[in-house]
Amino acid sequence: MSVDRSVTFTGIHFENPFLLSSAPPTESESNITRAFEAGWGGVVTKTIGLHPVVNVYGAKAKFMRTTPEDANVSMKKRPGAALHSSWNWELISDKTLEWWAPRIRRIKEAFPNKVLIASIMAGSGNDKELKHWQELAETAQGEGADGLELNFSCPHMDRRDMGSNIGKDQGLCSVVTEAVKEVAKVPVWCKLTPATADIVVEAAACFRGGADAIVSSNTFPSIPLIDPETLEFEINVDGLVSSGGLGGPAILPLALAKMAQLTKAFPDRSFSGIGGISDFNQAASYFLLGCGTVQVCTAAMLDQAVGPNVIKRLLSGLDKFIEEHAKNGWKSVEDFRGIRRDRIVLQSEIRRPDSSEYYSGYETVEGYAAPQPEVAVRV
Ligand SMILES: Cc1cc2nc3c(=O)[nH]c(=O)nc-3n(C[C@H](O)[C@H](O)[C@H](O)COP(=O)(O)O)c2cc1C
Repeated sequence: MSVDRSVTFTGIHFENPFLLSSAPPTESESNITRAFEAGWGGVVTKTIGLHPVVNVYGAKAKFMRTTPEDANVSMKKRPGAALHSSWNWELISDKTLEWWAPRIRRIKEAFPNKVLIASIMAGSGNDKELKHWQELAETAQGEGADGLELNFSCPHMDRRDMGSNIGKDQGLCSVVTEAVKEVAKVPVWCKLTPATADIVVEAAACFRGGADAIVSSNTFPSIPLIDPETLEFEINVDGLVSSGGLGGPAILPLALAKMAQLTKAFPDRSFSGIGGISDFNQAASYFLLGCGTVQVCTAAMLDQAVGPNVIKRLLSGLDKFIEEHAKNGWKSVEDFRGIRRDRIVLQSEIRRPDSSEYYSGYETVEGYAAPQPEVAVRV
C-alpha cells in the first residue's frame, strides 16, 4: 500500500505536513529556498512587522544542555551533554515589509507547489494599528503568500498591545483576527501564547473573529540560569537580562498539554502543532491529538540552520509509521489524526486500585522506599 504524505489544511494543499516555524530558519530568501529544496512542505516566514526592530547586543538565541553527571541545565558547552532547550530573546524580523515583499513573490514563483505562510504582527491599541495588520496582510497575500499567521505569541514584547499581550487578551484576539479577516483572501491562522491560564478562551475568541486555524505553541516565558561562580546570568547584556522564550525538547510535554486542551475543546477545527519536534515520534503525538500540520524551529536551527536531516527523518518516519499500521487501512495522516484525543479525561475518570493493593499511592519503584508493613500500635 503506498503512503500519501499530502494533507489539505485550512483548504491549502501541502505535499507533506511538515513546516518550518516562524524563526531564524525562515528569516531570509536563501534559507527558505534551501528549506524547500531539502523537502519541507511549507514555511512560516519570520514574523514581519511595520515597526522598526533593533535586537539586543550579542547573541539572540542560545541552547541549554544537560548531562547525566551534573544534571544541570546550562548554556555552557560540556562533553556528552544532550540538548534540553533553546532560549531566545530575539524580536521579530528586523527586515522591512518592503524588503520582504519582492522576496515572497520570488520564492512563490520559484516554488509554486510549496506553501509559504506570512507571519505578521502589529499593535492593537487603536484603529491605526488595526490598519497596520491589514496593510501587512494585503501586501503579503498580494505577493503570493498562501496564508497568514497572526503572531499573538511573541513572549518578549514590552508593548501592552503586541505579541503575547494580544494572546493573553480574548478581546484583542477577536478584534485583530476580525480586522485581518476583513481583507484576507487567504486562510488566517492565529499563533497563540501558551502563557495563559486557559488557552481555550483565547482560541475561542480567535474563532469568533473568523480564524481558520490555531497554532500552538510559541516559546514559554523563561529566564536563563545564574552562573554560581560569576553570579551572572548565562546570557546577559551589561549584567542585565529580561524574560525570553524557551523552546526545544523541554517544552514538548507542556506544548502537548496546551494542544490537547485545544483539540478537545474544538474537535472539528484545524490546529498546527509546535514545540519540541525533532523527528516523527514527537510529531506523531501532535497528529494523534488532532493536528493537521506540525512546525519545527529549535531542531532545524541546530541542523544546518534549516533542518535538512530533520525533514528527512520526519518524512521517512511518517512513511514507516503508516506502513507499519497499514493493517488498519491507513494511507495518510488523515486516517490517524485525532484518534488519541479522547484518551485525555478528567483525573476522576481514571481507574483506581481497590484498597487492598493501595500503598498510599506509592509503589516500590526506584526512588521511593519500600512500603512499610502494617504494624500494630500498642496504646
Ligand atoms: C530564535 C528564535 C526566534 C523566534 N522567532 C519567532 C518569530 O519571529 N515569530 C514567531 O511566531 N515565533 C518565533 N519563534 C518561536 C518558534 O517559531 C517556535 O514556536 C518555538 O521555538 C517552539 O518550537 P521548537 O520547540 O521547535 O523550537 C522563535 C523561536 C526562536 C528559538
